[in-house]
Order: sequence, then C-alpha cells, then structure tokens
Amino acid sequence: MAQINDNYFKLQAGYLFPEIGRRVREFQKEHPQADIIKMGIGDVTQPLTPFIIRAFHEGVEEMSKIETFKGYGPEQGYDFLREAIAKNDYQNRGADIHADEIFVSDGSKCDTGNILEIFGMNNVIAMQDPVYPVYVDTSVMAGRTGEYLGNGYYDGLVYLPCNAENGFIPEIPKKKVDIVFLCYPNNPTGTTAGKPELKKWVDYAIKNKTIILYDSAYEAYISDPEIPHSIYEIEGAKKVAIEFRSFSKTAGFTGTRCAYTVIPKNLVASSSDGSDKPLYPLWFRRHTTKFNGVSYPVQKAAAAIFTPEGKKEVRATINYYMNNAKILRESLAKLGFHVFGGVNAPYVWVNSGRQIKSWELFDKLLHEAYVVGTPGSGFGPSGEGYFRFSSFATHESVLKAMERLGNLKW
Ligand code: MLT
Repeated sequence: MAQINDNYFKLQAGYLFPEIGRRVREFQKEHPQADIIKMGIGDVTQPLTPFIIRAFHEGVEEMSKIETFKGYGPEQGYDFLREAIAKNDYQNRGADIHADEIFVSDGSKCDTGNILEIFGMNNVIAMQDPVYPVYVDTSVMAGRTGEYLGNGYYDGLVYLPCNAENGFIPEIPKKKVDIVFLCYPNNPTGTTAGKPELKKWVDYAIKNKTIILYDSAYEAYISDPEIPHSIYEIEGAKKVAIEFRSFSKTAGFTGTRCAYTVIPKNLVASSSDGSDKPLYPLWFRRHTTKFNGVSYPVQKAAAAIFTPEGKKEVRATINYYMNNAKILRESLAKLGFHVFGGVNAPYVWVNSGRQIKSWELFDKLLHEAYVVGTPGSGFGPSGEGYFRFSSFATHESVLKAMERLGNLKW
C-alpha cells in the first residue's frame, strides 16, 4: 500500500490564514448582518495602477498576434524583467547583483517554502519567533523537524525569540546553526533591522558557514534612508545569503503572482564529500525542472513598476497604506495598546496592555466589533499576548474599525 508523508500529522491545526478565514466564515454565517472589517491576512485592496495595468494589457495583446505570441518563456524569467530588477533593486543601491542571479517566480511563499529542497536533511535550522508560519510549516512537512512539543515549538528547530526587550531583533544564537531565516521589514511585527544589526548576522554567518535566507518581501515600505532594503547592502552578504522579494505587497500583485529569489553565483555550502559547492546550479536545476515561468503579461506588468511612471504610482499606493498604518498606530496607542512596527512596514504589532491572550482578543474583536486581525500567537509562542493589524485595508474601513475599537467595553 502507498505510504503517506507522516510529517503532515505533526502540523498543528490549519495554516494560520485559512484558519482565521474559517472562523470568520462561521461567524458570518451565524451573523449575516455583521459588517466585518478584515485586517487579518496582509492582502492588498488597491487595484493595479494605470501604467502597470496598461503594460499588462499590452502583454495580453501581444499574446493575440502570431508575430508577438509567446509560448514557454525562460523558467528564470524574461531578461527584460531580470535586468530591471538587478539595476533598480540592487545596483542602484550599491549591491552588486546581476540579472542572471535572479530567479523570477510566482511567489515568495512558494520560494521560501521550496528553498530547503537544495539543502541536506541534517541542517540545524533557526527562525525568528514570532515568524511567518510558512518557514515552520514547510520545514515540518519536509521532515526537517522532530515532533511537536506541545508548547508551540517543534523539536529540532532553533527558535530565536523576538520581543520588545530585544527590539524584535533576535540575539545571535549561542549554538551554531546552519541555516537561518530572517525577515525584515518583519512579518509579523512590522519592525526593521538596521545595518549594524544585520552586519552582526552576516559576520556570524561568514564565521559559522551559515546560510541566511533573507525574506525582504516588505522592503518597499521602508522610508527611513538608514534602513537597508536588501541584505546585499551589507558587506560580505553575497557570500552567505539568499534573498526573497515579491511584487505582491510592493505593487499589488497578490492576485497576479510575481516574485523573485536572488542566489549569488559565488554562494557556497558544503557537500557530503566535504567540498564547498555553489548553490546557484542546484536552484537553477530545481527551478527549471519544477517551474515553467511566470506568464509573459504578468512579467510585462512587473517590469512596468521600474519605469518612472510605474515608480510614481507604486509609491502613491504605498503611501496610501502607510497612512492607514499611521492611523492604526495612533488610534491603538490612544486606546491603551502598546504599539510596535507600522513605520517602515505595513504591519502594526500591538500588545493590548490587558490580561488577554491573542486568540481571546481575536474572538472579542470579531464578536464585539466585527473586526478581524491576526492573533500574535499564531506566529509562534513569543507572539502570545500580541495581535497584528494589517494596513492593507481601505482607508474608510481602517477609520471605521478604529472607531469600533474605541467603543469596546473591556
Ligand atoms: C500575511 O498576512 O502574513 C501575508 O499576507 C501572508 C503571505 O504573504 O503569504
């Protein structure tokens, strides 16, 4: 008889966001009149902007004519997009990344989940706590952890607590780890790491031959010029880091799907014969074997964000969301919450300042204010007591949600 992958039985409940969706649907069924405001999953609400949608239409139009029709594209992405990424996202910031080190994909969720395939099974993997749950769950599915320990942690993973005391930047681990996931601007806490903090991690990685998996999906929300957008802005990072970026939150592509992963050609890890081997050819092999590329019109639309018109439009949408973040921060602080993040990131991370657990607060807000956020404990045990608000909602709904929270009885 066929055997199933028992590792799936170790997973706890459903994936966080579908689980929230399920609870919200159940509540809505029982209260059909409830006008629920959703600030849970970080999903964008503003449409693709005019210049970007025009490029998208042009791409579609080209597919309708024999002279310009495209079949399979290059699996790693069209050169026009990879070159625009290398120039705008890296070289213009002094990071020496080349177009052929970029792999265009359909999402950072998939890439951060799949990247471990090119690493051996005995690596010690570390991740922040709280953390984007994809890193944990995909490690569990692939059998890279031991059993669930019953306290929010899996055996075999190294958790790096991020809390108000350490400014949501984890301490360098005492134990040597082989792979570490770092995410800045951080999901879920909305906090950022400066160059000195990231330099410590790069130095640690160089010293210990650790690979940093750097998720920078929210970099477009950074406005402080002192905060790096890429790990490659840190000296030495090209020798130790893989970076993930996404057009989802940058330009409203959550439904359109486009992202990319950077693997520098000189990045190496150890093979079982003890020699250092480059990771680039492995990911190249994996990507070209398992993926057939992002659709041409989507890549055309993605490239349009690097034009002067595209940049202007994308900036306006980001400003719209960051104005929401400001309203969230100010309103929640007035209501007695301890507020973090939301300055160079679209997530506002709060502690209610009251004796209430994250899921209890979720239920209270849903039942009494018809407002949905994300319980901090869903991102890991260090998130207990915290709650995440996403600023990707519409401006009107953010105002309405904050008014409702102001009327809550505690
Ligand atoms: C989130 O809400 O954390 C994100 O939307 C999830 C994602 O990007 O997959």
